[in-house]
Amino acid sequence: MSTQTVTRIEIRPLPGSFAAEVLGLDLGQPLADDDFRRIHRAHLDHHVLVFRDQRITPQQQIDFSRRFGQLQIHVLHQFALPGHPELLIVSNIVENGQPIGLGDAGHYWHSDLSYVERPSLGSMLLAQELPAEGGDTLFADQHAAWEALPETLQARIRHLKAEHSYLAKYEELRARSPWRPKLSDEQIAKVKPSVHPVVREHPETGRLALFVSEHFTTRIVGLPDDESRALLDELFERSTRPELRYRHAWRDGDMVFWDNRSVMHLAAGCPDDLRRRLHRSTIEGTVPR
Ligand code: SIN
Repeated sequence: MSTQTVTRIEIRPLPGSFAAEVLGLDLGQPLADDDFRRIHRAHLDHHVLVFRDQRITPQQQIDFSRRFGQLQIHVLHQFALPGHPELLIVSNIVENGQPIGLGDAGHYWHSDLSYVERPSLGSMLLAQELPAEGGDTLFADQHAAWEALPETLQARIRHLKAEHSYLAKYEELRARSPWRPKLSDEQIAKVKPSVHPVVREHPETGRLALFVSEHFTTRIVGLPDDESRALLDELFERSTRPELRYRHAWRDGDMVFWDNRSVMHLAAGCPDDLRRRLHRSTIEGTVPR
């Protein structure tokens, strides 16, 4: 039973974008049901919510995330926050010669965990340590991407399916970054590819969205390889065009909560010598339809 009294939450659309910031809310306190409903609605409407000034503990991030569903544990358990397997450390920091987190998370556009049967509903990323320069995260609206497609292309892809694989770019990333450990047989067994619709219906709003990504989508089911590759390349380009994007420049205390059913995201990167650390929770969604 929640006990916090209804607060003066302000949900303010971020200029020139679909995202919104949330002010006046301390996520370290239990959330009143009315406030939860407003946040839930705003999340569906804006796809990316930026909660400012959050000084919350790992357990408080987990508790808030759980209001939206069951949490998913990332296959790279090496980078879980000690004592909190629900939180993945996203970081370029190396201590005693060992990376403390996943340093190249978000190197390619993607929707989190699209390679599992029930991809993530949403993800929450909480800033811990930010670089003085760079480190932005970009989001691209996949409803708008779908709506902007020519009708002939919409008709062509509407009922196609595609395969998503965690391993699609793993070795390529591993070859050029120190952050990717060799996967054990057990880890590989946990990330079997999944097949999902190329165009999915948002389970709560009913809106259609493109659901393919350069990071995880390997092929369109039932098409010859060359045709599948050409179609995916065209969709990757169309789904990440500049006019579809919101670019988040992180501030201390930011927690960003995005809807993986509505947006894809990309980490812009920062100079290697500048420390960046964030904690990510992911909430399980439904089987895409
Ligand atoms: C991610 O892909 O979840 C990480 C994004 C970021 O580090 O900006």
